[in-house]
Amino acid sequence: MNIITQTADGSNTLYNETIGEHYHSKHGALQESKHVFIDAGLKFATAGKSEISVLEVGFGTGLNFILSFEYCVANNIKLNYTSIEAFPLTTDVINQTGYSAYVSSEIWNDFTKNYENALKSKQTLSPFCKLEIPHTTLIDFDTEERFDIIYYDAFSVQHQPEMWSDEMIAHACNFLSPEGIFVTYAITGKLKRALKANGFVIEKLPGAPGKREMLRAVKAKG
Ligand SMILES: C[S@@+](CC[C@H](N)C(=O)[O-])C[C@H]1O[C@@H](n2cnc3c(N)ncnc32)[C@H](O)[C@@H]1O
Repeated sequence: MNIITQTADGSNTLYNETIGEHYHSKHGALQESKHVFIDAGLKFATAGKSEISVLEVGFGTGLNFILSFEYCVANNIKLNYTSIEAFPLTTDVINQTGYSAYVSSEIWNDFTKNYENALKSKQTLSPFCKLEIPHTTLIDFDTEERFDIIYYDAFSVQHQPEMWSDEMIAHACNFLSPEGIFVTYAITGKLKRALKANGFVIEKLPGAPGKREMLRAVKAKG
C-alpha cells in the first residue's frame, strides 16, 4: 500500500508501507529529482548533444521522467527513456501525485495517456520522446540497447539492500555505453568500490537538501 505524503518543499511523494520508505526525499521530492537526476545527470549527459537515451531503475511515479521530458523539449533534445519497474503504480495513483503542476499540460497528457501502454511496449509520446517501462525486476531485465545515462533510483540500501549488491550494480552498468554516466542520490564506500571495479571514474557532488553528498560516475571508454 502506498500513501501520498507531502515533503518539505511542498511536493508530494508516496510512502511504501511494505518497504517502509518514501519514493523520494522527505526534504523535497521535486527538489531532489531536479538536483540529482536533472541537474547533475541529464544536463551533464546532454551537454552538446541533440539526442539522449536514459535507463532508469525504478520508474515509480514518473517524476524523473516528466522533468526529463520537459528539459529535453525545452532544449531540442530527443529523449529515448526506458525505465524498469517491478511494481507499477496505477494511473489513478499517478494522477493523485499533483505532479501535473510541474510540467506543461501537453507533457502531462502525453505521459498519462501513454503510461499503461508503455508498460507493454515502447511508445512514441511526441517527435521528441519515446518511453518504455519494462514491467520487470532489474535482475530479470535484458536488452541489446545501450544507454547514455543510468538514473539509479532504487529504494535505499537500508530498505532494499539487494538493489545495491555488487552483482546488481554490475548488471545495471552492463547496459551503459562506453563513457556512459551513472547517477544516483546515494553514496557509500561499497557503491564506489563496485563502480570502480566496473571501470568507472567516481565524482562526489553536493547532495540534494538533507543529504551531504551524491554520486556521479563515468564509465571508461572501454
Ligand atoms: C525510490 S522509488 C523510485 C522513484 C521514482 N524514480 C519516481 O520518480 O517516482 C523505487 C522504485 O523501484 C521499484 N522497484 C522495487 N524493486 C525493484 C526491482 N527489483 N526492480 C526494479 N524496480 C524495483 C519500486 O517499485 C519503486 O517504484
